[in-house]
Amino acid sequence: MSRPFLRTELCDMLGIEYPVFSAGMGPVAGGAEPVAKADLVAAVSEAGGLGVIGGVAYSPEDLRAEINKVRAKTDKPFGVDLLLASNFLHVRGGIFSTPAKNAGSEQASPSRDLVPPETRDALRKMAENLGIEWLEAPPPPPTWEVPEGQSYAGAQMEVLLEEKVPVFASGLGSPAPFSRALTDAGIKIVSLVGNARAARRVAEGGADVVVAQGTEAGGHTGKIGTLALLPQVMDAVAPLPVVAAGGVADGRGLAAVIAAGAIGAWCGTAFLVSDEANQPALQKQRILEAGTEDTVVTRLYSGKTMRNITNPLIESWEASGIRALPMGLQGVLTRDLLHSISAAGRDDLLMNAAGQTSGMLTETRPASEILHEMVADASHLLGARLSQRVQVQVAV
Ligand SMILES: Cc1cc2nc3c(=O)[nH]c(=O)nc-3n(C[C@H](O)[C@H](O)[C@H](O)COP(=O)(O)O)c2cc1C
Repeated sequence: MSRPFLRTELCDMLGIEYPVFSAGMGPVAGGAEPVAKADLVAAVSEAGGLGVIGGVAYSPEDLRAEINKVRAKTDKPFGVDLLLASNFLHVRGGIFSTPAKNAGSEQASPSRDLVPPETRDALRKMAENLGIEWLEAPPPPPTWEVPEGQSYAGAQMEVLLEEKVPVFASGLGSPAPFSRALTDAGIKIVSLVGNARAARRVAEGGADVVVAQGTEAGGHTGKIGTLALLPQVMDAVAPLPVVAAGGVADGRGLAAVIAAGAIGAWCGTAFLVSDEANQPALQKQRILEAGTEDTVVTRLYSGKTMRNITNPLIESWEASGIRALPMGLQGVLTRDLLHSISAAGRDDLLMNAAGQTSGMLTETRPASEILHEMVADASHLLGARLSQRVQVQVAV
């Protein structure tokens, strides 16, 4: 098959062949290892798209090692995604908790006393109803120390600047504190947003490209659908270019967002089931088996609204009415519950972030195949097919 052809402004801006990112997907359940590691990132970049490392959970040292792994596999451009949350979250042992001030010490993690007794009782009851024995989690493993006077993301950012990675993506927050240094280092800034207000903020904060991420998306997500959000973000940040995310998993989705004015797509769920994604087999299988309505948005796993494949634990959490703690502290609230679940081998109840396109994915495939089919179909749709199906008259 000849190589598909589809170019937009994004290709020229980033030096890539196809206007498609594989999303910088962070940690999988039960570990601090991201979904989007060097294998996936290099496969997508080598195939002509732009692969992005899900860097949020990495220590600076591990982040550098992962960047070097990508460079050993491809000389094509790639990116690193970090979360610039105001309460700089820290991911330890697979749970979202607050940054360590003294890594490994008792003070490093907030105490479970933070959880009101009635909430603990309700969580215990939840476990009991699911047939799970309640266990107290051991202290989280020691982690890297945030250097004095530096923020969590700031320490990671130094690595990006030193390594001069081609693209930095911010999944949360504004790039403003880092944008001058990134731009001076020749690093393009891509910022994800879920509403027009955030879009204006990241545009003012120095983003080169804004990604409008609709509620369809897997992982942390907002309330507005992609098709409604995209034009509002475009209007908010014009003339800055906009990429669409959330719900794009094949050539039809890619063609639709390009036709609506996006210069490309940022895709997570489509690549979650690729051979190269660092995602447990059980979780890939559950995505492949999911139907149209099998994802839900819950604060259970991180304190922030996150789209997941549904499961009985999410259902009972949502029914319980327990208020989630803010991102950064929710991990303290759920630590014993999720530890008990892991110990019982009920991995089906753990976080399985995935988007609404899960319902249309049926097989695992190499990432290059997913990308090339998506691009070939979009190119065919936007070229030959559209002119067969739609008649338009251009006024002269
Ligand atoms: C398992 C998983 C992990 C994710 N982790 C991150 C992350 O660490 N940082 C980030 O910016 N976005 C993250 N996302 C969101 C993606 O970047 C992306 O916006 C989303 O997957 C796009 O929608 P789609 O899933 O419909 O393709 C994650 C998504 C998934 C499914």
